[in-house]
Amino acid sequence: MSKPASPKSTKPRIANEKVTPASTKRPQKHHHHVYVVELSRDVWGEPKFRKNNPDYDIRKPCVYVGMTGLNPDERFDKHMAGIKSSRYVRKYGLHLMPQLYEVYNPMPYEAAREMEVELAIALRCKGFFTSYVGEDKVIAVRDQNGDVQVLLNSCRHRGNPVCRAEEGNTKAFVCTYHGWTFDLQGNLVNVPGHKEVYHGELKRSEWGLIRAAQVASYGGFVFATFDPDADSAHPDVE
Ligand code: FES
Repeated sequence: MSKPASPKSTKPRIANEKVTPASTKRPQKHHHHVYVVELSRDVWGEPKFRKNNPDYDIRKPCVYVGMTGLNPDERFDKHMAGIKSSRYVRKYGLHLMPQLYEVYNPMPYEAAREMEVELAIALRCKGFFTSYVGEDKVIAVRDQNGDVQVLLNSCRHRGNPVCRAEEGNTKAFVCTYHGWTFDLQGNLVNVPGHKEVYHGELKRSEWGLIRAAQVASYGGFVFATFDPDADSAHPDVE
């Protein structure tokens, strides 16, 4: 059966390559941006980074790639001030590298989400040591039974994020692409066109959001892992 096509994306170009002239930038009404922060080489000491960058070229910078609805300078300042910050940027951030992203900005929200990933992949392919890919974005939510659920924020249809809020309350997560709806435990509870498009054959029970294999909370923090065989999600929690 045919599925709706994914939205088109623009492949990023990176430093030392010709960039798009300013006159071809997207209209100024958009306010989302991608940005790149150079990190100190001390970040090499982080095992997760090393694991995610096996082909790192030692001559290239270590970088963090992000997206934001703010101006990148403002976002960088917030990282460094510890406000909704990445631990890596706060600890290892040196400065922004506008030559790697300025040409793409500003852009709509969806384009920024795609560009964030594509730019990180492009930089990594060029030998940069990048922090984004391999880090999964998750939703931590208290379900209708009061239990904490940690769910991968990625629609099982085509991978669109199903939650865009930083925080809040909701009774369900509705994917904005084709309307698949998931309850607070990640179960797929509604698929528009289930009869007409999928002829009633799509087994909803098999297409829920991916749940963390282990979740534990301790002192107000929530610990989770997608590895069912990992040690306890927190060392002090059984
Ligand atoms: S990507 Fe199609 S419903 Fe989520």
